[in-house]
Amino acid sequence: MRILSNETPEKVGKEVELSGWVDARRDHGKLIFVDLRDRTGTIQLVFNAKDEVTYKVAEALRPEWVIKVEGKVGERPAGMRNDDLPTGTVEIGVAKIEVLSQAETLPFDISGDGYEINEEIRMKYRYLDLRRRRMRRNILLRHKTSQFVRNYLTAEGFVEIETPILTKSTPEGARDFIVPSRLQQGKFYALPQSPQQYKQLLMVAGFEKYFQIARTFRDEDPRADRAYGEFTQLDMEMSFVTQEDILSITENLFTKLVKEIFPEKHITKAPWPRIPHKEAIEKYGTDKPDLRVDKGDPNELAFSWTIDFPLFTEQSEKDFFHGSGSAKFAPSHHMFTAPHPDDIPLLDSDPTRVRGLQHDLVLNGFEVGGGSVRIHQPKIQEKVFELIGFNKIQKDQFAHMLEAFTYGVPPHGGIAPGLDRFIMVVLGEPSIREVIAFPATSGGSVAVMDAPSEVDNKQLDELGLALKKKTK
Ligand code: AMO
Repeated sequence: MRILSNETPEKVGKEVELSGWVDARRDHGKLIFVDLRDRTGTIQLVFNAKDEVTYKVAEALRPEWVIKVEGKVGERPAGMRNDDLPTGTVEIGVAKIEVLSQAETLPFDISGDGYEINEEIRMKYRYLDLRRRRMRRNILLRHKTSQFVRNYLTAEGFVEIETPILTKSTPEGARDFIVPSRLQQGKFYALPQSPQQYKQLLMVAGFEKYFQIARTFRDEDPRADRAYGEFTQLDMEMSFVTQEDILSITENLFTKLVKEIFPEKHITKAPWPRIPHKEAIEKYGTDKPDLRVDKGDPNELAFSWTIDFPLFTEQSEKDFFHGSGSAKFAPSHHMFTAPHPDDIPLLDSDPTRVRGLQHDLVLNGFEVGGGSVRIHQPKIQEKVFELIGFNKIQKDQFAHMLEAFTYGVPPHGGIAPGLDRFIMVVLGEPSIREVIAFPATSGGSVAVMDAPSEVDNKQLDELGLALKKKTK
């Protein structure tokens, strides 16, 4: 039965079977050394010229061939040990080898970090790029993070619930991705920019504590910390909570997560500083200040909260929110964020001074999460719709929310940390694409699959669509 390379140090003197990739081959005349790589690391194989059959195969081996070997685990001779390797005290004297598949020369080197390699090529051959140690580590730590979150929140009474991907336009403020409907020609689904409305409806449904490791879709220009097309949110919503509760649950979750999954990291200050938006702008010139004491320290994590955002931002004509006519105001977070209870009278007299119960989670100068206490009184929701200039048609698009709130709605609120962005910041990666297995390139293609692609006329016909001539 196959064992893994990291199990070999405990098997000294035993006959074992191993499978994996040829990581490197070193020819030393009578001995050939091969590093065999599997998902747990590497182990040194030794082929001796005295065994003509196996030695001959070893001579032909090339990097990245896939092989299966049998042999005995032996202690390495003193002086030949490698203390930098977990398997550096042992080696396998190979008695039998089978080549499972051969490999062409790879389009690039996978032994290093790979930052210097052209990104388009890395993305085209992402399945090879993911063989490199750094990428494997990133993906594994991402998995461990999701797993920790699931276990932690489940133990706290949260329920993981999936919400639709084929849905309706949501008000997060980016462009939607739309999908044509075949059954209802001329109509389109929109992919969710976040599960915002669904999670609020789940509060009306009485689940009280919801989370989802949710894929969300936004058609906006990519940046180093912003994925094109799709990204993952740790989406959470809770009923009967105050803003204080939301902040403290999130703070506990991330504090324990860092301790368990990233033990080499230290958090600058606890409890995390809470900075009113006005103060952040005045003192740091940004609403996401980098509060690290030593910015050269890769293991420092400075979390903070930015709170007391203005509920609205004033807008000029060119950036009207959702085509909302001539309204002066756009929501600074989204239109379901509750006004600060002390500021409700200002909704009529001076909307610019109304503070929202919004909270942004900031880490080392990045916004890694955003959320709020929500409006649960239909009257206030209608007032906000009015201020952001919604006409009747736009209001009707959210009629289901207002109606749901007439059937007994608990006060509720939540947050959605961006999972990819959080991992990117914790690992100090220069781009969010370094922590996503198959990210889109900046041109918006998923390079391995060469998506997006054209569809044939029959598919278009079924959808009742015809393509216009391409315009430049
Ligand atoms: P918001 O729009 O602030 O809030 O998004 C939450 C968090 O998601 C991350 N994020 C992104 N990460 C990678 N690529 C992107 N293109 C991208 N866009 C956003 C950020 C951000 O803080 N529904 C609300 C949450 C709520 O109110 O509960 C929402 O989506 O880390």
